[in-house]
Amino acid sequence: MTAIQFNNVSKTYGQGLKKQKVLHDLSLSIMTGEVFGFLGPNGAGKSTTIKLLLNFIRPDQGDIHVKQCRVGKDNYLHHIGYLPETPCFYENLTASEIMYFSGKISGLKQDQLKEQTQDILKRLKLDHAQSWQIGTYSKGMKQRLGLALALVHDPEIYILDEPMSGLDPMGRYLITDVILELKQRGKTVFFSSHILSDVEKLCNRIAILNKGKHLFSGAIDEILPQYGSNLEHAFMNIIQTDDRGKNG
Ligand SMILES: Nc1ncnc2c1ncn2[C@@H]1O[C@H](COP(=O)(O)OP(=O)(O)OP(=O)(O)O)[C@@H](O)[C@H]1O
Ligand SMILES: [Mg+2]
Repeated sequence: MTAIQFNNVSKTYGQGLKKQKVLHDLSLSIMTGEVFGFLGPNGAGKSTTIKLLLNFIRPDQGDIHVKQCRVGKDNYLHHIGYLPETPCFYENLTASEIMYFSGKISGLKQDQLKEQTQDILKRLKLDHAQSWQIGTYSKGMKQRLGLALALVHDPEIYILDEPMSGLDPMGRYLITDVILELKQRGKTVFFSSHILSDVEKLCNRIAILNKGKHLFSGAIDEILPQYGSNLEHAFMNIIQTDDRGKNG
């Protein structure tokens, strides 16, 4: 079954002389239960695609579906846990308070929420800091708290915009481990990343975007023999070939 579907989606920012088309006719399917890596250089359009998927911005054309729901039309956000590229919080709240607030608006019951919060904060090694104001958190702690918020209502689909960004090796290990567990539980994870070794470890399939153009999607072992001996090599080859204009 398809969890996320993009059909011919394009997006332009700005107007007049400042008009810039940043996504060209993207069609992509992410299946239920797969961990899907979304790759591309800086400015390729990954966060734009994710914002379109969350209905924060609207496409020029095309449509996006999450399960049976059409983005912009149906109510689908309860299916989704989202980690933004730069998580922002009410800095004077504590981690427990923000988890409580987030779980409550997702409809969790009091005792369920308490248990979930404890489990998740422990898992992400934030339990010792749960009563600290978030303003006192380091960058990596905020990143892990962002993921904790995406997990609290135990949704089916996770949209994570660079989940490993700003993390130390232990933080990366923790997040990789959480994603692997989600995969084992049959959840769908769609995430962008620049850390190709993590992508290789986690993903069933990937897509590569460059300057808003969808260059490749498929299983990692489908690109390896053809474009390079490992994912990093293959990724560089695909992007450089496109930049030289050989892919049209
Ligand atoms: N609000 C905006 N207004 C105008 N242009 C924007 C806006 N947001 C993004 N862009 C432009 O759209 C293009 C794609 O940006 P986007 O943030 O989607 O890239 P990305 O693939 O997520 O990059 P990164 O890896 O650096 O996070 C870039 O050229 C960027 O400058
Ligand atoms: Mg981005």
